[in-house]
Amino acid sequence: MKKTIRDYDLNGKRVIIRCDFNVPMKDGKILDDNRIVMSLKTIHYAIEHGARLILMSHLGRVKEEADKEKNSLRAVSVRLSELLSKPVIFVPNTHGKDLEDAVYNLKDGEVLLMENTRFEDVPGKKESGNDVELGKYWASLGEIFINDAFGTAHRAHASNVGIATYLPSGLGFLVEKEVNELSILTNPLHPFVVILGGSKVSDKIGVIENLVVKADKIIIGGGMAYTFLNAKGYQIGKSILDSESIEFCKKVLMDYPDKIVLPVDNVVTKEFSNDVENRTIKVSDFLSDDMGMDIGEESISLFSSILDTAKVVFWNGPLGVYEFSKYTNGTEKILSKLVHIDAKTILGGGDIVAAASRLGYKDKVTHASTGGGVTLEFMEGKELPGVVSIMNK
Ligand code: 3PG
Repeated sequence: MKKTIRDYDLNGKRVIIRCDFNVPMKDGKILDDNRIVMSLKTIHYAIEHGARLILMSHLGRVKEEADKEKNSLRAVSVRLSELLSKPVIFVPNTHGKDLEDAVYNLKDGEVLLMENTRFEDVPGKKESGNDVELGKYWASLGEIFINDAFGTAHRAHASNVGIATYLPSGLGFLVEKEVNELSILTNPLHPFVVILGGSKVSDKIGVIENLVVKADKIIIGGGMAYTFLNAKGYQIGKSILDSESIEFCKKVLMDYPDKIVLPVDNVVTKEFSNDVENRTIKVSDFLSDDMGMDIGEESISLFSSILDTAKVVFWNGPLGVYEFSKYTNGTEKILSKLVHIDAKTILGGGDIVAAASRLGYKDKVTHASTGGGVTLEFMEGKELPGVVSIMNK
C-alpha cells in the first residue's frame, strides 16, 4: 500500500503538492476548471492541517521560449484563489532566489503556486526528462511531497518522480480516488462493456489489445468506427480513416467477431460543419462524398441493448463530433442510458468527461476520471511512474 497525505503530520511543514493544473486555456482564459476543482480536497486538507503549501504543476507543452507566455499558470493561481477564498502567492519563476525567499517566508496554512514546471524544459527538457539535479533542487524546497497529479501519473517528470526520490512522499486524495476507482476495471464484474470513441484507432491499439481479452463487448463509435467499418469492407466516403490501423482492425474483427460491436447506421453530411444538411444512412449506403459525423438511432438502440445487462462499463471518447450541437445525439443518448443502468460506470479521457460535463451527466456516473492519456495507459495495464515512485507503507 502506498503512503498517503494522511500518513504525515503536516503542521508547520513545507509540503510540496504536485497537482495537474493542465487545464484547457484559450487567450489566457481557463475553459474548464475541473482539474483545479478536483485538486481542492487535498489542498484544503493540507491548509487545515497547518501545512505551508508549495503547489507545482505543468501547463501545456513548452518547447521554446515563445511557448512560455501562453502557458503561464498565473490564471490558474487567480482561479484557485477564488475557489479557496484565500490568497494564493504566485511565483513567476521555477528556480532562484525569489522562489526560495517566497517558500521560506510561507506561514502555516499559506499557499504558494510556482510557475509552470515545464518552463524548465527550455533548454534541455529538464522537467520532462526527469533531470536529477532539478528534482533534487525542487525537493530541497520542501519537507514532504504529495503527488496529487493523476493526469500526469504516466509521465516520469522531475516534478513528480524526481521529487519523490528525495523526500518522504505520499499520494493525495485525488490520485488515491482515481487509482481505487479505476482498479475496478482490473478485475471487473461481468458483463464488462467497453465503449470506445474518438478519432484515431492508433491511439487505442494498446487499450483494445488489453481489453478485448477481458471485456464481454467492445462498442466502437466516433471517428474510429469508420476505420473498423472500412476494415470490414464497407465504403465510408469522406469519413475519417486511420489507414495505418486497417490491418490491426481486420485482425481484431477476425479474432473476436462477437466482441466488437460497430454502428449499423450513421448520420452523414457533406462538409465538416454544423451548418450543412445531414441524413441518416445504413452503414452499407455511404456515397463517395458522405462524411460520418455521429451514430444513428438504430446504433443507439443496439448499443443501449448491450448496456442493459452490463455490470461494469468503461467509456473513452465521444461517439460523434460532439463539439457540433447537431452531432451530440449519440453521445448524449448513450450517456443518458448509462446513468440509468445498474452498473459501475467509469468515464476516462478528457473529451468524454468534457461532453458528460456539458450535457449534465458527469456527476451521475460512478467515476469521471481527470486523466486523459494516463487513463489509457492504465487501461493498457502499464505501470504509472507517478504512483510507483511514491513510498510504500
Ligand atoms: C494530460 O492532460 O493528459 C496531462 O496533464 C499530461 O499532459 P501531457 O500529455 O502534455 O504530458
